[in-house]
Parts: sequence; structure tokens; C-alpha cells
Amino acid sequence: MQNIRNRTCNTIVILNLLQQSYTLSNKHHFETRAIRQQSEKSGNREHSVPLYLTSSFTFEDAESMQATFAGETEGNIYSRYSNPNNDELISKVCSMEGAESGFAVTSGMSALFYALIPFLKAGDHLIASRALFGSTHQMLTQIFPRWNIDFTYVDGHDAGDWEYALQENTRILLLETPSNPGIAVIDLEKAGAFTKKHNLLFIVDNCFATPYIQRPIDWGADLVTHSATKFMDGQGRILGGLIVGKENLMEEVIFFARHTGPVMSSFNAWLLSKSLETLAIRMDRHCSNAFTLAQFLEVHKSVNKVNYPFLPCHPQYEVARKQMKLGGGVLSFEIDGGQSAAQNFKNKLKMITITSNLGDTRTIATHPSTSTHSKLTPEERAQVGITDGLIRISVGLEHIDDIIADIEQALP
Ligand SMILES: Cc1ncc(COP(=O)(O)O)c(C=O)c1O
Repeated sequence: MQNIRNRTCNTIVILNLLQQSYTLSNKHHFETRAIRQQSEKSGNREHSVPLYLTSSFTFEDAESMQATFAGETEGNIYSRYSNPNNDELISKVCSMEGAESGFAVTSGMSALFYALIPFLKAGDHLIASRALFGSTHQMLTQIFPRWNIDFTYVDGHDAGDWEYALQENTRILLLETPSNPGIAVIDLEKAGAFTKKHNLLFIVDNCFATPYIQRPIDWGADLVTHSATKFMDGQGRILGGLIVGKENLMEEVIFFARHTGPVMSSFNAWLLSKSLETLAIRMDRHCSNAFTLAQFLEVHKSVNKVNYPFLPCHPQYEVARKQMKLGGGVLSFEIDGGQSAAQNFKNKLKMITITSNLGDTRTIATHPSTSTHSKLTPEERAQVGITDGLIRISVGLEHIDDIIADIEQALP
């Protein structure tokens, strides 16, 4: 029987789920693996995985402790390194993303930082899609330059842009697709071919799509990051981040993470693993609600533009249909009348919440230019389509008629 304590996420995981062993493989459907991939049962034979709130783990004797520290035998040592709850979560996300190995960290930003920093040193350069989450932009523009790490933004819709941005010291291509909040979509297949040709590391922030909708590794990505705070938790309760990908690269990521300490708490890992059991069913409803809302907004007189990947008017519609199973649970739209119209709209909402999170059961409205992306200069916002009238809606799981009714009464 194989214990999933091992960081490497083998395709076949044998779990003692029932009275007898049960073999779970990649032939099982996404939904089944999301539910049935569990840590080994304890002696109590619990059905639901317990929470391992422990800083360290014990050893039978001095020799077994020595052997585990030496890496000769497998075993948990200390929760900054590994913990059964974290291992279960990591193993599940690896299986969902088609990854070999992973690590769970405290937040989505932590995931991005630890996916990038082990592979960069002073004098290096990376290429990134221009439409990035606000804090990712801050990391590239305000933090990395302190260590003499440079970057070039590309719009990402034309592989020719990437060739133009390439330098001798370029190490990484970082993409966010669909992007927050402009919902820009980038062709992962073309990006995979580009990074392979130039021997670059290819990293994708897959937070908006989730592995249920899009698997960047299938298109050549080396590492995938997640803000588990969003759809993975799905209920706006905790912060979390995941990095998954190729085993040899993850060894470096895990080395950095284990010795600098951004590990996810076992409580958050336990909660997230349970949340993932319902990811597929939640994403189906998020996406169908978002698509219906996008169609409603598209023909509304007070709306100038709707950004949603599965609307045929989306500029990368064909690419989205190729690489995404569904259109996602987030859309953005431009209200006629700029900032004052956007603020009025938000103030008139009765049910929909005004907050900065996304991927929650509750529908959320955000005004990026005065919140999540307010640290960007007006020019930087303009370059990625964040106008003063842009509103981002994270479409929740309430009945779609109630979501539309609230939006309709708040629009001019
Ligand atoms: C695309 C994307 N990446 C990363 C993050 C950062 O995640 P966290 O807030 O968990 O650090 C966010 C947060 O909104 C995001 O939208």
C-alpha cells in the first residue's frame, strides 16, 4: 500500500478507503478522484479525514528518527516540512492538474513568489503577460527590481510579442489566463511551444479557471500556481496557495519553501481538501450562472462591453474554446458613465456583496480601479483595459434569476 505522504504524486494511488484496499487511478473521473483521494485511515478507521493539528511527529526509536532525517525512510518529521492534511491536499491538486509534485503555501501570492524565486537570480529577466493580478504586478515592478531581476510585459495574444521581448538572460514566461479583472485569454499551446523552443520555464497562474476547466500542464506548462483562496475553497473562508508541476522543479521549490517557512496550516489544508470534493459541481453552476449573466449584460443599454471567454464577441473566443472546458465563474463589464456610474451601481446593489474576494458561493461586485488594481498608475490600468467604469462580478451560486434581478435594479 502506498502512503500519499510522498510529495511525488504518482498516477496510481492506492488507498485503504474501505475495508479492503481500493485502487484509484487517472482512469477515474475528476469528480471521483476529488472525493476519494484521501490520506490513509488512522487506527480509529474514521470515514472523514481527521485534522492533524500537530507541529511535529514522533519516532519509535532513535534509529528510525535518524533514518527519516537522512531521507532513508519516508515519514513526517515536522509540519513545516509535511503533514498528512497538506499531503492529501497536494496529492489531490496534483491529480487534478496532471502534475508530478506540489507544495501548499499560505496564499496565492506566496504560491507565485515560491514558483518564481527559486529559478531567478540577480541579472535574470522574465517575460510576463501584462494583464496580471495587482499584487503580482507589484512583485514584478516593486520587489524583484531590488534584487536586480528585470521583466518585460507582453500582451500575450501574439507569439511574435514574446519573441520580441526575449533576451539572453530570459529565464521564465509567466502567464495569468484568464486574467484578473479584464478576463484576457492567452493561448497556452502557443506559449508552450515558445517556452520549449527557447528553453524557458513556463509558469501559469490558473486561479481563475481551476483545474476543472483548464489544465496548463497539458499545454506544456512546467509549474502551475493557485490562489486556493478563490474557487478552491469556494466559500470565502481561508487564504491558501498551491504550486504544482514537474518533480525536478518542485524539488527546488520545496527546498526553498521548507527552509523559509511559508507552509499552509494543516487546518487550511484539511478544509481545502474537503472543499475540493465539490469543486466540479460548484464550477458547473458558477459557469452556467456567469454565462447567463454575461448574455444578459451583453444586450443591456447601460453596458458598453462584457468580458467573458465563452461569449463569441470575446477577442480570444476561439482560444478559450480550445483550452477551457467552460467559461469560468468571473466576468467583467464596462458600465456607461465611468467611475461615478460604477460606484452608483455598487451602492444600489441589495444582495450582491461589495468586497474584493472572488470565487465565493456569494456573488461579489468589485470596482478594480479603486480597489484591487488601485496601486497601478492610470496608464498601467489603461493598458490592460481597467477603465474607471469596469466592474468585476464573481458570479456565485445563488439562483441566477435573483443575481440578474439585483444587477438589473442597480443598473441605470
Ligand atoms: C489571479 C490571481 N492570482 C493570485 C492572487 C493572489 O491570491 P491570494 O489573495 O490568495 O494571495 C489573486 C487574488 O485575487 C488572483 O486573482
